[in-house]
Amino acid sequence: MNTQTGIPVVTIDGPSGVGKGTISLRVAEQIGWHILDSGSLYRLTALKAKQSGISPENEDKIAELARNLSVEYRQQGDSLQILLDGEVVGDTIRTEEIGNLASQIAAIPTVREALLQRQRDFARPPGLVADGRDMGTVVFPEAGAKIFLTASAEERAKRRYKQLIEKGIDANLHDLVIELTERDERDAKRRVAPLVAADDAVTIDTTQLTIDEVTEQVMQLLRARYRF
Ligand code: C5P
Repeated sequence: MNTQTGIPVVTIDGPSGVGKGTISLRVAEQIGWHILDSGSLYRLTALKAKQSGISPENEDKIAELARNLSVEYRQQGDSLQILLDGEVVGDTIRTEEIGNLASQIAAIPTVREALLQRQRDFARPPGLVADGRDMGTVVFPEAGAKIFLTASAEERAKRRYKQLIEKGIDANLHDLVIELTERDERDAKRRVAPLVAADDAVTIDTTQLTIDEVTEQVMQLLRARYRF
């Protein structure tokens, strides 16, 4: 089944650090579809809030920031370049500080409302791979294929630690486990669009799997559903 617009959508949801972004980019590249990194919209709103000195308690102002985000995405092979107000943002939105702030503001209903249509507009032919927390439940409930990725908090923290160290960013594994667990809890317990697998999602536990193995499992599912 396709979305209401007739454009096929594959959703890849799951908790922080599970590898959704990497898997989504690889899958999108292999099948030649567009990509939506929905977390980046929350992260960009968080970055803007930080730069403007607006606290997450100021819900109206944060929703206004989300509504007026000037953002552009350039998909190049298996990487995604993001421009905010015409400037490449790079890794500034990938820090734990921005991730945590993003998770706080993502719990504000008016922020989610402000970003909803913007996310749906990413669905363009020939199709869309959308990653996030509520892609299969709220944003694209009609998606043709829904995947939910999981992994233990320890394994996800280890992956995040490795990424940070490779980028030359100082990190502490123990702190990362605590931060990830806190963020998962906030994302799973919020009132609006909580982190939860859609009833019709296929769950893949990636704890013991490599990125290549997860990509292959997702591709197998998609090959069974579409004619790639
Ligand atoms: O996926 P990523 O870590 O970039 O997302 C950052 C934060 O944005 C998440 O912790 C979550 O609170 C929020 N988010 C969300 N819904 C999405 C994607 C991300 O609430 N679809």
